[in-house]
Amino acid sequence: MSYISSRLSVVRPSASMAASQAAKALRAKGVDVIDLGLGEPDFPTPAHIIEAAYAAAKAGQTLYTAAAGSPEVREAVAGKFRRENGLDYTADDIVVANGAKQIIFNALMATLEPGDEAILPAPYFVSYPEMVKLLGGTPVTVECRESGGFRLTPELLEKAIGPRTKWLFLNMPGNPSGAVYSADDLKALGAVLARHPQVLILSDEIYEHIIFDNREFVSFGKACPDLKDRSLIVNGVAKAYAMTGWRVGYAAGPAPLVKAMSIIQSQSVTSVCSIAQAATVAALNGPQDEVARFRDAFEARRNLVVDGIRRINGLTLPPPEGAFYAYIGCASLIGRRTPKGVMLEDDTAVATYLLNEGRVASVPGTAYGLSPYFRISTATSEEVLAEAIARINAAVAQVE
Ligand SMILES: Cc1ncc(COP(=O)(O)O)c(C=O)c1O
Repeated sequence: MSYISSRLSVVRPSASMAASQAAKALRAKGVDVIDLGLGEPDFPTPAHIIEAAYAAAKAGQTLYTAAAGSPEVREAVAGKFRRENGLDYTADDIVVANGAKQIIFNALMATLEPGDEAILPAPYFVSYPEMVKLLGGTPVTVECRESGGFRLTPELLEKAIGPRTKWLFLNMPGNPSGAVYSADDLKALGAVLARHPQVLILSDEIYEHIIFDNREFVSFGKACPDLKDRSLIVNGVAKAYAMTGWRVGYAAGPAPLVKAMSIIQSQSVTSVCSIAQAATVAALNGPQDEVARFRDAFEARRNLVVDGIRRINGLTLPPPEGAFYAYIGCASLIGRRTPKGVMLEDDTAVATYLLNEGRVASVPGTAYGLSPYFRISTATSEEVLAEAIARINAAVAQVE
């Protein structure tokens, strides 16, 4: 008899973690595998942020803080939203959690009733549907085609909204597609949402600073101020400041929602690590030149990958507009056979083939709700990326 709750029966473990595990298992057998499964910046956290954490620990900032975050960190987040996004929030409208993931988890826990629906434009971040299901909701996948830049359109949104819709998730730049929405794109979605007052909007803007070709980032909150009382603007320090392991995410939203999320926080984790909060204050208020340096490095890698993948017969890759992934189309490989005679039935088979024969770990598109694709992370050095592309090329060339 299993003692694991039925709640868990619907939840899948993270596909990107699974790809990484498979790569590690092969490596343990002595196989030289390039792991492009997991996405996190490969740069060290900027030194001034680490110094601020050290200083905070030495100065005795080692106690629990308020559940929603220390007054200093919430002030710093409110300042960031004002300065960088033109959003008018006070510290009371802010909640800080252990990563953007916990922010999203808390928001869903605070709002979902069994059977409530969350609209997820696909391809989506792998954790969204699993969190929705874990908390009793129903994910509603809306496939957003490559031909439309992987963006949700007002027509698709209108069709997806029903009486049980509780949330619309937006993610820009998007993981895995890199899609960015312009102010006009967002206003057009906002016009649909204005007709459906029961829908809350979660805008995950964690890749805000990793945006290419001189594109301007526009927060959903800036484009649709009339929807402020039902928008949750989610962000964090993980991607912009190379701080994935510090575990700090934050959000601004309507007071009742932020308060409910803080209550969950107080009864679960109490608060985010006080030292990581001090580091976040330094990240948000300190010099931003490293953020720009990281962005430039990610853009150079994006260029290298787009150029390399486009030379491979059978793969497609529209240039990602932001974030650090390439969502590579592999439709023309489906139905063909590997040199060992294995039929590539779907993108999972393609990713498995690339791992076993190409020695490159990627994540199949099925994990992101839109097939046939596979995702590679471009958050690694140009040499490693060039070698990975050469391996993918060699493997794809052998498909019959
Ligand atoms: C779209 C998106 N949101 C949130 C996260 C997680 O952010 P955090 O590390 O702050 O929990 C990720 C991480 O991969 C992501 O891709």
